[in-house]
Amino acid sequence: MTPVPKGRPTFCFIDLEALRWNYQQVRKKVGPGVKVLSVVKANAYGHGAGEIAKTLEDEGSDAFGVATLEEGINLRKVGIKSPVLALAGFYPEQFDELLQNKLTPAICEPEVLRHLERLARSRNVSVKFHLKVDTGMGRIGFIPSEIDSWLPELGKLKALKLEGVYSHFSEMEGVERSYSQKQVELFGQVLRRLHSAGYDAPLIHMAKSAGVIAFPSSHFTMVRPGLMLYGIQPSPEMVKQVTLRPVLTWKTCILQLKRVPKGSSISYGQTFKTGRESLIGTLPLGYADGYHRLLSNRGVVLVRGKRAPIVGRVCMDLTMIDVTDIRDAKQGDEVVLLGKQGREIISADEMALWADTISYEILTSISARVPRTYYSSKEE
Ligand SMILES: Cc1ncc(COP(=O)(O)O)c(C=O)c1O
Repeated sequence: MTPVPKGRPTFCFIDLEALRWNYQQVRKKVGPGVKVLSVVKANAYGHGAGEIAKTLEDEGSDAFGVATLEEGINLRKVGIKSPVLALAGFYPEQFDELLQNKLTPAICEPEVLRHLERLARSRNVSVKFHLKVDTGMGRIGFIPSEIDSWLPELGKLKALKLEGVYSHFSEMEGVERSYSQKQVELFGQVLRRLHSAGYDAPLIHMAKSAGVIAFPSSHFTMVRPGLMLYGIQPSPEMVKQVTLRPVLTWKTCILQLKRVPKGSSISYGQTFKTGRESLIGTLPLGYADGYHRLLSNRGVVLVRGKRAPIVGRVCMDLTMIDVTDIRDAKQGDEVVLLGKQGREIISADEMALWADTISYEILTSISARVPRTYYSSKEE
């Protein structure tokens, strides 16, 4: 049975069995010869990095990707032993924490590389690093035409060891793949140039979830999936290529139910007026829980297996729904914000559409105020 937390009934259920299933789909896609670095940055896309990483490590994940050093330190605190790569930039003043926690930095600037080399030599330690190549994303990384200025820098390294070279796709969720193809080609050119200069890093990686599913030529020696581990398809076109199971369900209960006359205004700013006598439920959650304010008068929740609309503006801590058409709706009824109830499902993608955003932002926005509770659907 799924445990139900006490107190305010707004919480996320995280199904670790679904997570294991999704990880195995990655494994099947890439085969045994390719390593999997599971991306657990931003608190494992809102799912809770500690429990997610422990489960994935147990399932066989070879490494983990975080954004910041602090996220890496948190993984060590919960006992993660596998390599952890800090993907979103490294700051030399964090060098001691990097060493103490055996984290791997991604390097994008020759100056940072030189600085790190000096620090490692002064401490008489050897440090592995990954080099980030910008093949078309236009954010961190060196651009392929700068490779000749990097080669002499790599030649001077004694304390630093080049363990990985990687790049990131800018867009490959759509059907059109020519830009991604160009990115893979540019990456290949950099790898060949490094190889001819005698640098063969064991870990070469580029594929995020969409690459894992639909672009085998981007698998190289390691892949970096995030979204698909959490059971979300990178794009509707990929549904036929892999079966994923959503990991997170977000629920609450009706806090108060009241019948109001026609013409009543609901919430701040009178943006919603009842067009008939209505049954309005108030939910104990709001934008401070990560329930986007853009869902005001646009979002939908599930009550008794039926869809009920959000009415009026989402407040900081409370949100109203119209349950006039839901038979027998009662105070205390379970409300599903994300996930399945009866035959109905609200996916992170659907909620993202209502809030003019993407599933990644929906998941990573669920705030720390919402307790995450873990269970395994296998045991149900
Ligand atoms: C550098 C890097 N690699 C991999 C990923 C994982 O991407 P996805 O969640 O689409 O699999 C991300 C996600 O933003 C990323 O920034």
